[in-house]
Amino acid sequence: MWSSFAVASLAAVAAAQSDMALSTQMQHILAGAGQGPLNTYPTSLTQGIIPKGFHSHNDYWRPVPLYSALSAGAISVEADVWLYNGTLHVGHERSALTNERTFASLYVDPLLSILKHQNPKSEFVTGATKNGVFDTSSGQTLYLFVDLKTDGAATWPVVIEALKPLRDAGYLSTYNGSVFTSGPVTVVGTGNTPLNLVQGVAPRDYFWDGPLVTLNTTFSNITSGVSPIASVDFAVVFGEVPSGTLNSTQQQTLTEQVAVAHSKGIKVRYWDQPGWPVSTRNAIWRVLANAGVDLINIDDVAAIANF
Ligand SMILES: *[C@@H]1O[C@H](CO)[C@@H](O)[C@H](O)[C@H]1NC(C)=O
Ligand SMILES: *[C@@H]1O[C@H](CO)[C@@H](O)[C@H](O)[C@H]1NC(C)=O
Ligand SMILES: *[C@@H]1O[C@H](CO)[C@@H](O)[C@H](O)[C@H]1NC(C)=O
Ligand SMILES: *[C@@H]1O[C@H](CO)[C@@H](O)[C@H](O)[C@H]1NC(C)=O
Ligand SMILES: *[C@@H]1O[C@H](CO)[C@@H](O)[C@H](O)[C@H]1NC(C)=O
Repeated sequence: MWSSFAVASLAAVAAAQSDMALSTQMQHILAGAGQGPLNTYPTSLTQGIIPKGFHSHNDYWRPVPLYSALSAGAISVEADVWLYNGTLHVGHERSALTNERTFASLYVDPLLSILKHQNPKSEFVTGATKNGVFDTSSGQTLYLFVDLKTDGAATWPVVIEALKPLRDAGYLSTYNGSVFTSGPVTVVGTGNTPLNLVQGVAPRDYFWDGPLVTLNTTFSNITSGVSPIASVDFAVVFGEVPSGTLNSTQQQTLTEQVAVAHSKGIKVRYWDQPGWPVSTRNAIWRVLANAGVDLINIDDVAAIANF
């Protein structure tokens, strides 16, 4: 499974001229499993990649979904899924869907391959290890946001079933009704994911993208066991912000939203913040990072390297 995927992916990498800056790291990841036993140490697949608090939005648009984000160090990726005829297809809109681009082929299978590589069985390893995808930070979980585009009640159970290979290998973060246990991959349902198919269910190995703005009001019953992360559309809260700086009211709102979430042990993600010009984008990133925002949305993974 690994090698056929890697070969296909390397072809895509070669075609991805725009991601040239990333291709060395990416080819290292992709070629990793093919290296001989003497060439490198077993868990070196993502060697040298420093994980950062970025969320790779529209991840499946990249030349090599998932791998592009990981090679840049993004600790969070997002797949838009559509349920058709029993299969979960990945794409931003219906017209973009193909039979090959499925949740299994683009996310579950590659993650399983990477994690198997990061958790080798050898005489030096006693018991099962639970290393994450990042070699430099093996305890760092990868957030896998699954954005349901089709009916939530019908689609969510199929997502849960599709995660079985990762579940069976013990690679998913879990919640047992009182305690969250971090694993290599933390699955967070968003979009149409129904709250009542997550909250109140235990034990489980999937979570719900919390509503950041109403965490202490309408959704005060949301705990970090339901939503380890809460999100909101930056533009809805703050508007356009062309200057790249928040005024005092906006800065106070940001500080309060982060404080409310963190007081509940919930991490914070903003999406849809200004992407252009680059100076404004970077200024907003800095404002968010300084305020303690845990996940900053990016549409351009190459930009992470320059931040
Ligand atoms: C739906 O899935 C079934 C079983 O996988 C398959 O036989 C059938 O051809 C599919 N139908 C369409 C319209 O793709
Ligand atoms: C959940 O896990 C914790 C820590 O291992 C344990 O103390 C607790 O009893 C567990 N709760 C349930 C409902 O299994
Ligand atoms: C938690 O609050 C939300 C929003 O008011 C509500 O929809 C949901 O049913 C509540 N959950 C429980 C378990 O009461
Ligand atoms: C900050 O900007 C917002 C949105 O433009 C505006 O509504 C608010 O009045 C401004 N506050 C201050 C103190 O300038
Ligand atoms: C809830 O948090 C918001 C900031 O996100 C704050 O403005 C508001 O006063 C808080 N409300 C309560 C009831 O704590």
